[in-house]
Amino acid sequence: MCGIVGYIGQQDSKEILLKGLEKLEYRGYDSAGIAVMNNEGIHVFKEKGRIATLRDAVNQDVAANAGIGHTRWATHGVPSKVNAHPHQSNSSRFTLVHNGVIENYSILKNEFLQGVELKSDTDTEIIVQVIDKFVSEGLEVEEAFRKTLALLKGSYAIALLDELNKETIYVAKNKSPLLVGLGENFNVVASDAMAMLQVTDQYVELMDKEMVIVTEESVTIKTLDGNVVERAPYTAELDASDIEKGTYPHYMLKEIDEQPLVMRKIIQKYQDENGKLTIDQDILQSFDEADRVYIIAAGTSYHAGLVGKQFIEKMANIPVEVHVASEFSYNMPLLSAKPLFIFISQSGETADSRAVLVQVKELGYKALTITNVQGSTLSREADFTLLLHAGPEIAVASTKAYTAQLAVLAILAAVTAESRGIELDFDLVKELGIVANGMEVLCDAKEEMEEIAREYLSTTRNCFFIGRAVDFYVGLEGSLKLKEISYIQAEGFAGGELKHGTIALIENGTPVIALATQEHVNLGIRGNVKEVAARGANPCIISMKGLETEEDRYVLPLVHEALTPLVSVIPLQLISYYAALHRDCDVDKPRNLAKSVTVE
Ligand code: F6R
Repeated sequence: MCGIVGYIGQQDSKEILLKGLEKLEYRGYDSAGIAVMNNEGIHVFKEKGRIATLRDAVNQDVAANAGIGHTRWATHGVPSKVNAHPHQSNSSRFTLVHNGVIENYSILKNEFLQGVELKSDTDTEIIVQVIDKFVSEGLEVEEAFRKTLALLKGSYAIALLDELNKETIYVAKNKSPLLVGLGENFNVVASDAMAMLQVTDQYVELMDKEMVIVTEESVTIKTLDGNVVERAPYTAELDASDIEKGTYPHYMLKEIDEQPLVMRKIIQKYQDENGKLTIDQDILQSFDEADRVYIIAAGTSYHAGLVGKQFIEKMANIPVEVHVASEFSYNMPLLSAKPLFIFISQSGETADSRAVLVQVKELGYKALTITNVQGSTLSREADFTLLLHAGPEIAVASTKAYTAQLAVLAILAAVTAESRGIELDFDLVKELGIVANGMEVLCDAKEEMEEIAREYLSTTRNCFFIGRAVDFYVGLEGSLKLKEISYIQAEGFAGGELKHGTIALIENGTPVIALATQEHVNLGIRGNVKEVAARGANPCIISMKGLETEEDRYVLPLVHEALTPLVSVIPLQLISYYAALHRDCDVDKPRNLAKSVTVE
């Protein structure tokens, strides 16, 4: 979703801002802009569409040592040059970029901006116009900024330039992610450390309702009451090469291929010096005290939660409910007496999940976040964090984070089981090693997956994924992958549910991808395949070694039955990737989508 960058220092800021925005492209956006400030004033360049278009529009002759930049994912107002950020106040004195949603923007407009002519349809423009109004009424800029922030309801990450103070970028944050990066003779602002890794790996986290005065030499964090806050920086443990595509045509393909490596890294990270899987004692104690686990997540992470429920219930014998975050926040179910919450989020920034975290913390419940991003909002605000160690996931479609989530959930379930005196009949370290080897075989089967995508999906307008038990959950993930990047209408169904309505959609040639990895439901799912084939469908069965029959299109390398989702999802990721390529879709940046969904 929207991204922010800012730079103040001794170098020309244009290129640093543009490069930063390019690193934020993965978050999803529909327009972009920068504003740079020099002795002549503030120069704004903005365009609808890609950063490359913005780059062409930037006047290279303008040199400036301070600036802010933005990628916009439209919420208020259509994607357009006018609605793109930065936005300027009518006096042109103030220029501002903003991420988030200002819920009371029309109230503020009516109260403070009667007679002010607005140029855009955005909630953001209200902020900059209100700041200008307060300054024109006599407030100092910092005071006007603080007063405006105190009026805002909703989420924001803001960077503001004042034409009359070329030494400062004013910054503020509430609910939307924002970091300040530190350098020698410069400082930067970024929604995400990745954006500014090119210039620094030292970052200071900002908390909600804090504002920051950033100059070339200093960073002063203050609360909205004006109290100065001291906070030590941390080193962003990201390798700049992790965020490059290298020789890959797309991040998604690179990230699919990284899965065996990530699997091995997770095993290693969660082993103690004796090779035993280990989880923080405090987390285990919270499981011990809980009578029910509630998993909260969105999208792919929700699908990982569905599989995670199986792990925790079957291995550790604790009941689990899995909830879509956006529903839970306003429709909370009746909770058990001693609930424990698990938030699963690749980015750790998903606003829907965060809203639930805030609610359950207010109720006094314990929360564990499973995330790929150390220091992310969900990680900071939960009691405990388990990291995915998957490395940055740049492609909008989540792949390696999903399998990493499954692996961490399996480890959590196995270690919890052990701590509750339950003996498992398999060695998870060994079985995850076998999974990593299986993943390698699948990543090498690209030609076959491309062929399947060509054969089944080149021209179809829809596709169904069916499975029973855990295969149903993997089918849901497969269908999400396919729809989000190829725009084929794809749905996942429980095999047994087909007859209750969905089978009416089957026509001659409708592709139905069926997963058959579970022995106890193998006959059932094969029966469902027969039912759809009898009605003209074109079934593509992906089965587990040992369960295969002659009609199967692809046989997966054998892994432990509890862990099949870790391998069965890979063909679905690859098939989706090739289907999107065959249809000329923008694989890494699908239309309308954002990587990190930071608005509710
Ligand atoms: C799909 C996808 C999204 C995310 C969802 C939650 O490929 O990436 O469905 O899974 O937006 O994001 P996180 O996991 O960052 O909370």
